[in-house]
Amino acid sequence: MRHLIDIKELSVDEIDELIKVANDIIANKEKYSHKCDGKKLATLFFEPSTRTRLSFEAAMLELGGNVLGFSESSSSSVSKGESVADTIRVVGCYSDIIVMRHPKEGAPLVASEKSTVPIINAGDGGHNHPTQTLTDILTISREKGRLNNLTIGLCGDLKFGRTVHSLATAMSRYSGIKFILISPDELKIPEYIKKNVLEKNNIEYLETKDIEEYLPELDILYMTRVQKERFFNEDDYVRLKDYYILNKAKLEKAKKDLSILHPLPRVNEINTDVDDDPRARYFEQALCGKYIRMALILKLLEIK
Ligand code: CP
Repeated sequence: MRHLIDIKELSVDEIDELIKVANDIIANKEKYSHKCDGKKLATLFFEPSTRTRLSFEAAMLELGGNVLGFSESSSSSVSKGESVADTIRVVGCYSDIIVMRHPKEGAPLVASEKSTVPIINAGDGGHNHPTQTLTDILTISREKGRLNNLTIGLCGDLKFGRTVHSLATAMSRYSGIKFILISPDELKIPEYIKKNVLEKNNIEYLETKDIEEYLPELDILYMTRVQKERFFNEDDYVRLKDYYILNKAKLEKAKKDLSILHPLPRVNEINTDVDDDPRARYFEQALCGKYIRMALILKLLEIK
């Protein structure tokens, strides 16, 4: 039985295969519409979500399966003091696969050690978000036709932004990748990502506060929200929340074939005047999330 807790658990070949299946699903939806007949997916969300939870639910429904679960822990027996481990053992009696989001880093890993069914990490604190990374990689692959030889700007909250940590980890396994890490000093990418991921894999990177200086070099600009829920101090959040606001005027110096991505939700970091720019690909990215999650469900349930 396989779980997906960290993107590192998938080899490059497995990610390539997931992309291939997702592209086949996009081209041949009907072929997949009964693949999960009789199967149930449980979504256990101890933190809010729109895209991840609903795209997993839509994915399972489009595969012919069913869904159950909760979208806030207050409506589950966790509010009475039940542990994550007990919750997982019980939900495994009612479902074939579990998708779990939790504010505590490592909670899905603990869950996977107790589970009788595959567990998918749908985001654990400021740590990892592997299925967002699969979404991002499918989007990049479809936009660029390649996953190597790319200059990728990661911009915003690189400290708490779990999608950034997982994406940097995944893309560091491809060749010719260069990262421009754009953040205020307080929100720089964690040292462990620099040392254990970027430097270990000889990935070229530089850190800067200045989005405009490096914008003309980028093939991908990955914007992120400042993660209000991870701050200990409201004043710090208020000071940093609008540090970067991408708008149409700033994009004048960017490449014509830049792809602007964002895991969403956005707050102010991308002005809505960017949405009509053909380089804005974040809503297409959200759609990719459903298809790659369909491919992942099939893989973890070992359905051909
Ligand atoms: N990108 C993402 O994880 O969005 P949600 O928080 O809405 O699931």
